[in-house]
Amino acid sequence: MKLKAVCMDSSNSSNSTSSKIAHLVYNGKTVELPVLSGSEGPEVLNITNLYNELDVFTFDPGFTSTASCSSNITFIDGEKGRLLYRGYPIQDLAEYCDFLEVAYLLLYGELPNIQKKDMFIESISRHTLVHEQISNFYRGFRRDAHPMAIMVGVVGALSAFYHDSLDIHDEEQRKIASIRLIAKMPTMAAMAYKYSMGQPFIYPKNNLCYSSNLLRMMFAVPCEEYLINPVLVRAMDRILILHADHEQNASTSTVRLAGSSGANPFACIASGIAALWGPAHGGANEAVLNMLYEIGNVDRIPEFIKRAKDKNDNFRLMGFGHRVYKNYDPRATVLRHTCHEVLDELGIKNDPLLNLALELERIALQDEYFIEKKLYPNVDFYSGIIFKAMGIPTSMFTVLFAIARTVGWIAHWQEMISDPTQKIGRPRQLYCGKSEREFVSLQKR
Ligand code: CMC
Repeated sequence: MKLKAVCMDSSNSSNSTSSKIAHLVYNGKTVELPVLSGSEGPEVLNITNLYNELDVFTFDPGFTSTASCSSNITFIDGEKGRLLYRGYPIQDLAEYCDFLEVAYLLLYGELPNIQKKDMFIESISRHTLVHEQISNFYRGFRRDAHPMAIMVGVVGALSAFYHDSLDIHDEEQRKIASIRLIAKMPTMAAMAYKYSMGQPFIYPKNNLCYSSNLLRMMFAVPCEEYLINPVLVRAMDRILILHADHEQNASTSTVRLAGSSGANPFACIASGIAALWGPAHGGANEAVLNMLYEIGNVDRIPEFIKRAKDKNDNFRLMGFGHRVYKNYDPRATVLRHTCHEVLDELGIKNDPLLNLALELERIALQDEYFIEKKLYPNVDFYSGIIFKAMGIPTSMFTVLFAIARTVGWIAHWQEMISDPTQKIGRPRQLYCGKSEREFVSLQKR
């Protein structure tokens, strides 16, 4: 069997879609594969007709060479460490915007003017409360339940409460469901935390900004005045901005796949939360802290670096490496700075955990193994340390990531549903099981 692909430019313009054609020769038959060009990033071979024409599938577990969709939302250049939301560098958005401004940008494609921003904030504020009966859900969980387990359940259960925003073919209902999800996530997350602490739920206060509200609902108690710390609010807002979207990662792809079947938005976002929970994805910020506790002190770093490099040991340095970034994660650069701001504000000097983290970072960045494999600290490396300094328990780290990523999930879900060419996602497989065989009755086995 022969497989050969050649790419030819058949027009003067190298940029326009389908100006180039790749030819794939297989078993003596040639098929033309249009070459698609996006606005940034590598060209993409369109293989949608491959099976029809050649009777073969492509094999790409983990999607390392496969674009699952086209999208206008986020662009990552992993080699150069660039991340753009709707064309804007993440560093600028983190510096100059607040979270809801960035949410508006991701959802609608442009930064809002003052009037549009105010209207958006107003619509989010109107939906921060959850149906009172939802609090009964929490009481059904064990007090020691992981808050991500609670979030998967409660967010999925929203579809049992908001029947007027389940019709995915109605644009207005899709919009209301999106606003409801973004508005209610902090309320539901804070309720999960309060439930685990045995403290009363704190209702949202709509004159506060998104991040102040979140911190207040988590940390206020009815018997005391809660003082808002602007440095911590800004840090939380930055973390939310940096985590809001990251193109076709595992959880976003999960939301798209679930949504492609026509599932309702609350169910889709619940599926995203489930996918985010894994330690290779959103669960990594929690795993970073657990790893730092396990290492314990600076003297033991070499032992753990050795383990991370050992192929027979499944230990990995949590918070290092990324499927797409083969350079410093630009989000990590912003958070490294924020991390120091927060520690200064809280008067945390010589924090042993932060010292351990920074020493780990220094050693890993000089180590041949990490250099050769281009394993740099990722965003989770620093977010965990900031959350810990703020007094947020490790089990809540991924929940906060989920609050931020809800915006990205919804933007992708909306983009997919609005695409008239959208189809149900249905990958194929390379079957390696038994070929057809004769059935043997129970008595003869
Ligand atoms: N520590 C030690 N070795 C590593 C690490 C690490 N953290 N990450 C990758 N490697 C090695 C891996 O063993 C492999 O070596 P070899 O080529 O010899 O087999 C090589 O580097 C490539 O790794 P991979 O697993 O093929 O790469 P991937 O793209 O499938 O994995 C990753 C990406 C993020 C899952 C992985 O780097 C990892 O497990 N990191 C730790 C968990 C983590 O921090 N996750 C958060 C990701 S950022 C948040 C998000 O966007 O969700």
